[in-house]
Amino acid sequence: MADLFHRQAKNYAESRPTYPEELYEFIASKTPNHDLVWDAGTGSGQAAKSNSYSFSYCFSYVFVLFMFLILQFEEVGTDTSQEQLDYAPKLPNVRYQRTPPNIPMSELESSVAPSGTVDLVTIAAALHWFDLPTFYQQVKQVLKKPHGVIAAWTYTIPEANDDYPLANEKFDALFRQFYADSQPYWNPARKLTDDKFRGIDFPFEPVGDGANHTGPFEFTTDWVIDLESFLTFIRSWSAYQTAKEKGVELLRDDVVESFKRAWSEDGVDQRVVKTPIYLRIGKVGNLE
Ligand SMILES: C[S@@+](CC[C@H](N)C(=O)[O-])C[C@H]1O[C@@H](n2cnc3c(N)ncnc32)[C@H](O)[C@@H]1O
Repeated sequence: MADLFHRQAKNYAESRPTYPEELYEFIASKTPNHDLVWDAGTGSGQAAKSNSYSFSYCFSYVFVLFMFLILQFEEVGTDTSQEQLDYAPKLPNVRYQRTPPNIPMSELESSVAPSGTVDLVTIAAALHWFDLPTFYQQVKQVLKKPHGVIAAWTYTIPEANDDYPLANEKFDALFRQFYADSQPYWNPARKLTDDKFRGIDFPFEPVGDGANHTGPFEFTTDWVIDLESFLTFIRSWSAYQTAKEKGVELLRDDVVESFKRAWSEDGVDQRVVKTPIYLRIGKVGNLE
């Protein structure tokens, strides 16, 4: 599944949403030490990018908190796709590393992080693509015991429903049908995302403060888009790429035309779309 993301790396980097400060604040508040982060399946660095955006925040409590956290963290972002990593932002405290899909433990230790040195493993919109038993073994190996934290989140394809409208009634109905038509081209692993990570295996301990479960905890991100960037987002889907490889163009001219007509029906070009994010979070604990 690692090869689903090579070809659309540019579309991916240009169109995917970044993540909200509230999500990072929540994760940071559950992570006792802030020395080393491993962002697995970093892609073109959406998580790293969200962190760096907070540098330009106005002087506020959030800004101070983030400066403090960001300057403390060293981060290693790994991905199987060099094409994705090529579009990741260069940041002073982030190192990127291409890794094979199932990286051997010895290579993990030498090229990602030695055993027991990582405070936080983040996986943004990628956990459902991993071979989970192997990956969790690696996570348990590198996290500091017992308080090292794993935080994995995902966002669903814009839901276009009453809780999370996308554009307007007409566009949302068209998009729901378009998404239904794209179903044959999605890898079955993506069902875990449609299920909001409720059913994904997550063998870690709750992070405390009264939380007796590992999520999903819900957040939202504001995503500013016009139709062109929304179409680029569709082109970044693995399903779009898979369909194309089978000779099917999901965004046929007539489909794009009807999207255009519906999008501009209410005279709004750029929209702020609320997108839900679902977080699973846990700590490694004392492994027996
Ligand atoms: C949907 S993208 C998520 C990218 C980014 N983290 C984000 O928040 O948008 C999934 C990424 O996981 C990578 N990937 C898939 N399988 C992987 C594996 N076994 N190990 C590391 N990365 C993998 C893909 O190359 C892709 O860049």
